[in-house]
Amino acid sequence: SMAAGAAGRRDPEPGPAGEKRILCVGLVCLDIISVVEAYPAEDSDTRCVSQRWQRGGNASNSCTVLALLGAPCAFMGSLAPGLAADFVLADLRRYGVDVGLAVPQAGGSLPASVVIASASRGTRTILHAHGAASGSRTIVLYDTNLPEVTARDFERVDLSQYKWIHWEARNAAEQAAMMRRVERHNRARPPAEWVRTSVEVEKPRAELLPLMGLGHVVRGGAGAGPGGGAGRGRGSGAGVGDPGPGHRGVQGRGAGAGLEQAGPVFISKDVAQHFGYRSAPEALQGLRSRVQPGATLICAWAEAGADAVGPGGELVHSDAFPPETLVDTLGAGDTFNAAVIFALSAGRSLQDALTFGCQIAGRKCGIQGFDGIV
Ligand code: ADP
Ligand code: FRU
Repeated sequence: SMAAGAAGRRDPEPGPAGEKRILCVGLVCLDIISVVEAYPAEDSDTRCVSQRWQRGGNASNSCTVLALLGAPCAFMGSLAPGLAADFVLADLRRYGVDVGLAVPQAGGSLPASVVIASASRGTRTILHAHGAASGSRTIVLYDTNLPEVTARDFERVDLSQYKWIHWEARNAAEQAAMMRRVERHNRARPPAEWVRTSVEVEKPRAELLPLMGLGHVVRGGAGAGPGGGAGRGRGSGAGVGDPGPGHRGVQGRGAGAGLEQAGPVFISKDVAQHFGYRSAPEALQGLRSRVQPGATLICAWAEAGADAVGPGGELVHSDAFPPETLVDTLGAGDTFNAAVIFALSAGRSLQDALTFGCQIAGRKCGIQGFDGIV
């Protein structure tokens, strides 16, 4: 069964050639996608051009992209018993994503989305205006009663197997505890053994926002090494209930030199617009004080590409790479995140990573699904 399969391998070996993995923590769900020529009117009865089941969820989609890019990766998220979970688990395996950390839950059902993917020009979606003239995707997610992965579950992650851990913000308090565990792990080890982290805040839910301040930053350079990060203003006691750096202003900024391993924070256009920002640069400017000094803040903005502010406060931009025909934008953001993480984890610059993210995300927008992005 699914549960037996997922529980069977608790301690994954490092990937090929001992390469450390990238772990994505978050949602896996079933996407039932109907491709339509024109977005249907409410209460109409129409036919779609094609329909498919696809594994979805931000963390799960990012794993797909990492796997396609050739990075050994693992998925950690809740699974429910049932057909939908069997489908997504088999699909994760098919892509070579390690599922040894998937958490089988006894009750609940796997979240599922009904997606209307509009291939037409000139229509706009109603429920989720994506700003695209075509290739829009309208998602209605049933995010169920399925329990979330807890900090307790996360304790069985052998951190030494991972070079990077990415969280899709969902259950903030538990996820903050997971991030603090990684921070403690890093403090006790030399920089070469640090696990880098990143977090995506995609939904403008108030309880998720403090996670932006937690992407830990470990002080590198002189004096680095075991305990080297301990002198920072924000200790590991910082919890999700704390006011966070957003209330501390931007003092201590410009401390980019000597700071390494700054876990990037991805915020979505949705979150930015929720705060009233009309562009990515405006959002970065306004939300920068919510991340730790020395952390990188990244904001993708559909056809406007993506912007970021780096550890030293430098602003970086990449234009989008729009495909000839916009076909399917479902998971474009997840693709972007994965490609950026892939590039940063390989030591590439923030500018390179943003550009690479937009290139791969652009390619994804030109095809149905993910096969063919590389
Ligand atoms: P999502 O809606 O899935 O969160 P985003 O709007 O965050 O996606 O876009 C992520 C990236 O995908 C953008 O930075 C861009 O590079 C690419 N992208 C998304 N939509 C388009 C589009 N309509 N045209 C070109 N590129 C796009
Ligand atoms: C795309 C996606 C879909 C899923 C939905 C959940 O980013 O992860 O696969 O249905 O978002 O919000």
